[in-house]
Amino acid sequence: MATNTMNQMRLLLLHLLYLGLSLADDQFVYSGFAGTNLTLDGVAGLTADGMLELTNGTLQRKGHAFYPAPLRFRNGTMFRSFSASFVFGILSDHVDLSAHGMAFVVAAGMDFSAALPSGYLGLLNVQSNGNASNRLVAVELDTMQNDEFGDINDNHVGIDVNSLHSLQSYYAGYYDDGSNGDFRNLTLISGEAMQVWVEYDGEAAQMNVTVAPLNVAKPTRPLVSAKHDLSKVLTDVAYVGFSAATGGTLRSRHYVLGWSFGLNRPAPAIDINKLPRLPRVGSKDRSRALTIGLTIATAAFLLTGAAAIFALVRRHRRYAELLEDWEVEFGPHRFSYKDLFRATEGFKSNHLLGIGGFGRVYKGVLPLSKSEIAVKRVSHDSKQGMKEFIAEVVSLGRLQHRNLVQLLGYCRRKGELLLVYENMSNGSLDKYLHANDCLLDWTTRFRIIKGISSGLVYLHHEWEKVVIHRDIKASNVLLDNEMNGRLGDFGLARLYDHGSGPGSDSDPQTTHVIGTIGYIAPELGRNGKASPRTDIFAFGVFMLEVTCGQRPISHERTDDHALLVNWVLHHWQNGSLLDTVDVRLQGSYDENEANLVLKLGLLCAHPFSDARPSMRQVMQHLDGETPLPELMPTYQVISNMLVPLETKEFQEPDDTSYLESNATSLSGGR
Ligand SMILES: Nc1ncnc2c1ncn2[C@@H]1O[C@H](COP(=O)(O)OP(=O)(O)OP(=O)(O)O)[C@@H](O)[C@H]1O
Ligand SMILES: *[C@@H]1O[C@H](CO)[C@@H](O)[C@H](O)[C@H]1NC(C)=O
Ligand SMILES: *[C@@H]1O[C@H](CO)[C@@H](O)[C@H](O)[C@H]1NC(C)=O
Ligand SMILES: *[C@@H]1O[C@H](CO)[C@@H](O)[C@H](O)[C@H]1NC(C)=O
Ligand SMILES: *[C@@H]1O[C@H](CO)[C@@H](O)[C@H](O)[C@H]1NC(C)=O
Ligand SMILES: *[C@@H]1O[C@H](CO)[C@@H](O)[C@H](O)[C@H]1NC(C)=O
Ligand SMILES: *[C@@H]1O[C@H](CO)[C@@H](O)[C@H](O)[C@H]1NC(C)=O
Ligand SMILES: [Mg+2]
Repeated sequence: MATNTMNQMRLLLLHLLYLGLSLADDQFVYSGFAGTNLTLDGVAGLTADGMLELTNGTLQRKGHAFYPAPLRFRNGTMFRSFSASFVFGILSDHVDLSAHGMAFVVAAGMDFSAALPSGYLGLLNVQSNGNASNRLVAVELDTMQNDEFGDINDNHVGIDVNSLHSLQSYYAGYYDDGSNGDFRNLTLISGEAMQVWVEYDGEAAQMNVTVAPLNVAKPTRPLVSAKHDLSKVLTDVAYVGFSAATGGTLRSRHYVLGWSFGLNRPAPAIDINKLPRLPRVGSKDRSRALTIGLTIATAAFLLTGAAAIFALVRRHRRYAELLEDWEVEFGPHRFSYKDLFRATEGFKSNHLLGIGGFGRVYKGVLPLSKSEIAVKRVSHDSKQGMKEFIAEVVSLGRLQHRNLVQLLGYCRRKGELLLVYENMSNGSLDKYLHANDCLLDWTTRFRIIKGISSGLVYLHHEWEKVVIHRDIKASNVLLDNEMNGRLGDFGLARLYDHGSGPGSDSDPQTTHVIGTIGYIAPELGRNGKASPRTDIFAFGVFMLEVTCGQRPISHERTDDHALLVNWVLHHWQNGSLLDTVDVRLQGSYDENEANLVLKLGLLCAHPFSDARPSMRQVMQHLDGETPLPELMPTYQVISNMLVPLETKEFQEPDDTSYLESNATSLSGGR
């Protein structure tokens, strides 16, 4: 008894001594994390059996874990080599779909409060991405394909320096020494534990990353290797740790089971046998007593049964939807998730059409009818307002016009809404307008403007009730196979009138309660109330955008003329209105039409809502049925905004919309 306790004491002492030494030696090893002192934040925590749990399956969360003490990466003038190894596992609710991944990181500090809980792996955000002042290096285990970062697929390993756009990356896998270095794929989200080695040679300024399954020794050939002088990136004293983020649609959990690190030396070996075990994917622990008490035969029988049930449950979960009583009446407009899943081959990343403020849009082909669809996945957590919104979706589904993108129906899952539209083979207009080459001639542009205008006349005047679009902009104008403009996304902004904000992958340009920056009418910015007139303002900006080939707010300029409206207005005043027409057209356009569209655009984008024409009048002007009233650009500075005032009085007999407004009571600032 006594010797036993003595032995334990000695072990403990040795252990303490070892820990003390390891700090001074700039190396450490954790074979399991039970009772360890890491600096954690977000949802990160240690589980009872000693796993480091970076994220726990809750959506839109990040988790970080750092070695608590800073490490000295530079000693005198010499930037030191370093080496890390760790064992990780990622569990996903879906077998073939995953949320965002995780990263090993070396950073100047441990504060990642500004990072986004989605595609930026809990490290950066839209503004900070790529900024040299981040001073961080990360090895990403990326399980989602983000086109904005140039990701190669949704299962890759990359070396990141100050940016999520990897310096080097490759498909997750390893070169198997056991068979002449053949490449073997690994699936990061398989729920299997895997080991990673990160090695940086300070002299050669080269970083290598190697991955292998737990039972395979470190392969000789690294998976990813990058030459980059980290002494210019990292601070002299820096922190090492892990970061992960979950994003808004799919549930996943990120675990680290063991970790070691060495400065100027190889990372010590992790004792694989001591590592905690990852929970099995999907199934719950079964009672041990029960299993022991049963004969092998019955166990096998049960196992087969369990596997079958598991498969059924998984199948059930994979296609699980929400369906409530009130939805019965909307039945015909409801799509089954299974159909949409099949149509898009499981929402595979190569079916991704684009990412917008509401979520991702995927292309698919319906299994039965073979018709092409575009499925928009909108994450939406609040139940509030859902009924009203679905009722509206269904009623909007009855809208039919050749210049509107047909809404075919919807599907609802937990925390998520899927909207099904007809697919527009030529994508969205903004991609053509802001490309380097001139992709659209004037005739096409003018036809698109007229088409969208006719779609808006239908929404504002011709349908049974007035429908406000709320988010008119170039990216919501889609082009069909004949390059006709069709307006999409009508009424969607309303979803967010009823509570919870936008979901993951949010585009910072879109504030969904009111619209998109650059297209928001001044009064809408002030009181948040959308009206047909706020639509007309956005349409005015849109007309200018199409004609000038420039964004509503210039990225380059910061002065008054950063606003496209002000810039065009300024040219008009100087008598050089046509100088604003897109230079990519190289002068080949109809001057009368361009003149009309520019002036009409300015009139629609008038800061005083009363001065804007109605959609019907806009259409009449565009069709040449009613000539544009004689306008003179007179300038008056109100709250830093140039305001055109019509000098020549005129009034339409049956409409008050051209009335002069009284300038003193309004400020047009944005
Ligand atoms: N019906 C469709 N057919 C073909 N492509 C589409 C369709 N709907 C959307 N897309 C593509 O998906 C991209 C993202 O669309 P989405 O509507 O989510 O974003 P957005 O228009 O940029 O912003 P917002 O969320 O404010 O509407 C679009 O830019 C377009 O390329
Ligand atoms: C994850 O952690 C957060 C915060 O610690 C907690 O609110 C949430 O309930 C946890 N989720 C699960 C699924 O355990
Ligand atoms: C954890 O480590 C930090 C930094 O070394 C130290 O300040 C803190 O006291 C430690 N906490 C415990 C409980 O050991
Ligand atoms: C550099 O390292 C050596 C030995 O490792 C040590 O004696 C010396 O104090 C270190 N210098 C600095 C500036 O840390
Ligand atoms: C980079 O970040 C620094 C500090 O946050 C900031 O001052 C600077 O403007 C940023 N640079 C760019 C190009 O965004
Ligand atoms: C490995 O993965 C890559 C990328 O996904 C794929 O192109 C390749 O066919 C896969 N190889 C095997 C043997 O599965
Ligand atoms: C990285 O890999 C290359 C190629 O296998 C090798 O020559 C180099 O020594 C490695 N560097 C480190 C730091 O492991
Ligand atoms: Mg859109």
